[in-house]
Amino acid sequence: MPKTKTVYICQNCGAEAAKWIGRCQSCGMWNTYVEEIIHRNSKLSSLEFSESSPNPVSISEIASTGEKRINTKNTELNRILGGGLVPGSLVLLGGEPGIGKSTIALQLALTLNELKVLYISGEESYQQIKLRADRLKLKNDNCFVLSEILIENIFVHIRNISPDIIIIDSVQTLQTEEIESSPGSVSQVRECTSRLLKFSKKTSIPIILIGHITKDGSLAGPKILEHIVDTVLLFEGDHNYIYRILRVIKNRFGPTSELGIFEMQNTGLKEINNPSHILISANTENMSGVSIAATIDGIRPFLIEVQALVSSAVYGMPQRSTTGFDIRRLNMLLAVLEKKAGFRLATKDVFLNIAGGIKVNDPAIDLSVICAILSSSFDKPINKKICFAGEVGLSGEIRPVNRIEQRIREADKQGFQKILISNTNLGPGFKSKIEIIRVKKVESALKYLFK
Ligand code: TYD
Ligand code: MG
Repeated sequence: MPKTKTVYICQNCGAEAAKWIGRCQSCGMWNTYVEEIIHRNSKLSSLEFSESSPNPVSISEIASTGEKRINTKNTELNRILGGGLVPGSLVLLGGEPGIGKSTIALQLALTLNELKVLYISGEESYQQIKLRADRLKLKNDNCFVLSEILIENIFVHIRNISPDIIIIDSVQTLQTEEIESSPGSVSQVRECTSRLLKFSKKTSIPIILIGHITKDGSLAGPKILEHIVDTVLLFEGDHNYIYRILRVIKNRFGPTSELGIFEMQNTGLKEINNPSHILISANTENMSGVSIAATIDGIRPFLIEVQALVSSAVYGMPQRSTTGFDIRRLNMLLAVLEKKAGFRLATKDVFLNIAGGIKVNDPAIDLSVICAILSSSFDKPINKKICFAGEVGLSGEIRPVNRIEQRIREADKQGFQKILISNTNLGPGFKSKIEIIRVKKVESALKYLFK
């Protein structure tokens, strides 16, 4: 007889309790406990992975197999995975609905044509998947598609087909017979994921799991999911723009500071190898309020365009509005301009926009923001061959920023002639074609630009 157990599980953090409680004691959320019934058929689950327990081994006795990675044939994906897909790894690919998770997964399944790929979808029918494949204009006779949600059946099909890679869209649709709660509930997601993990580790078959994301930006289901898997990738981007950023949140086999940039086209997601090239518009010559910042996301440098518009406030209360930039930081920079450089912007509306729908948290774009605002305020364009990298402090000083050499090299590569940086940022030994202009204070930068 299978043992049946009723537990209450917090749908936010996955904490368990024997009885219902209103407020979760571990994460503090209200009304998140849901009753879930678990059948533990101990015989069945022990049969499935019956293995004699391994013995402890000295680490020096373990033969290193070298780095064998599967080339995904996608430069951006290879980059963020740290050089390719590791055999036996479990990768979680998260993102908001409609961002392109299924698209990139199917694209991957169809381009890896020398490997046998099993694409399991609990969300789409065979026809829908075929339709998407037609849209992508890709063909692969080695790609098998399965529309199934029951994990027990999925394992049977995997055994029959014996694929080289498995893709599952999505983890929230998976269901196991052992647990009676609905698909997507914490216990279902957790159980299915840990069984997939055991499977991938045992067989060395990599599995890519697609996961949904909740409104607050965390992966739906418990945080535990992120602990179970080897790699967590997160798709970001604004639906109104075509650019998508793939970030690494966790990676057991590579760095977490990489990011991949894609463009959504009619035929799927196309990798972008030179983001600076597309993020800077070509036709802003002689336009005021535009400046270029040398920014870094993770360890990837690129140049972005900062656009500002300063106009007289029509209503009593001046407006400040930003896209892609923290509004509190804008207010701080405006206060610095007012107090330290003597510019009266208190009666002006200020709008700030980072082009391309990209969100930037890098403080190094401060200097560029200030210059764009003043360029708009004076209605004087900034030379298109100048770019900026510097943080602005509360007393109007230009502060040094990290990885300055990388930023300068990127600006140089993109054909810029001058870069304004903090006077304390760079040692004397650095050589480059681009002219480096060291500024100490906001005023000196402004004097240099607008004399
Ligand atoms: P999808 O991969 O279905 O999103 P997710 O699985 O993350 O929910 O992406 C759907 C969006 O992508 C949809 O709005 C249409 C767009 N799209 C394209 O622009 N071009 C394409 O070739 C494809 C397949 C989708
Ligand atoms: Mg999808």
